[in-house]
Amino acid sequence: MRILSGIQPTGILHIGNYFGMMRPAIALQESAANETFYFIADYHALTTINDPETLRANSRRIALDFLACGLDVERGALFRQSDVAQVAELTWILSTVTPKALLERGHSYKDKVARGLPASAGLFNYPVLMAADILIYDSDLVPVGKDQKQHLEMTRDIAVKFNETYGTEPDGQIFKLPEPQIQATTETVPGIDGQKMSKSYGNTIDIFGEEKETRKRVMSIVTDSTAVEAPKNPDSSTIFHLFSLFGSKDEVAEMRDRFHEGGIGYGEFKKQL
Ligand code: ADP
Ligand code: TRP
Repeated sequence: MRILSGIQPTGILHIGNYFGMMRPAIALQESAANETFYFIADYHALTTINDPETLRANSRRIALDFLACGLDVERGALFRQSDVAQVAELTWILSTVTPKALLERGHSYKDKVARGLPASAGLFNYPVLMAADILIYDSDLVPVGKDQKQHLEMTRDIAVKFNETYGTEPDGQIFKLPEPQIQATTETVPGIDGQKMSKSYGNTIDIFGEEKETRKRVMSIVTDSTAVEAPKNPDSSTIFHLFSLFGSKDEVAEMRDRFHEGGIGYGEFKKQL
């Protein structure tokens, strides 16, 4: 099977990136039947970063972090998006069959503009570039976090449109329709403010952060005002959610019980985390 995924060099990698995309992507390298293609989406990052030095430094750092997390370049390709110029060519061709209304429905575009990013044509066309990334390599499976689900749906819609327009082969299928692979337990890792952890929200816990800074961020996880003595709900707690990514089955079950029992404050649970 062909596996492909990308990550934007827009900042330092965090544990949301790790559990949502990097760990599953690396795990897919285990099977010799899989061909893996992982890349640094520097053209996508140009929609938010305009400083060349920052983009270069981030790209390098992402490559290093991916390797440090266990990506094996003997078993698959790790590359930079902009090194394959044909992706940009295909983006143009795909854009001519992409309905504008499809892009207007993009959550990611609307969120970014609502947060103050300039509404450039590049930001608007972001999903078309992503479709080209995926379709050009005949990808079967794309490991991503849940926030990318709509982008994968758009990719499939664009592939269908293209196949309908130009398909002449017996089955009319020029491009394969890719499937997303989204892990149910790690689809959205929360940040220290309880929102989705994201490089652009300032709420991250970095994969290779300094210990002191990591402690500080964990201790500043936002909690509700339930009193120390009162029972607490583990399922709405960011502390518990993050702990369950790292703890053993027994440790997680024990923390769940301690949340329900009450008598322990959030500060104590943060220390355990
Ligand atoms: P960010 O939002 O931090 O800029 P990217 O958009 O570069 O992250 O995402 C890279 C990959 O990591 C994508 O597959 C994305 O779905 C995944 N990812 C990012 N944040 C999270 C999260 N909080 N939980 C799960 N997966 C995530
Ligand atoms: N849009 C993705 C993100 O922000 C990055 C990305 C670009 C990507 N091209 C891709 C992911 C192709 C998977 C496949 O995370």
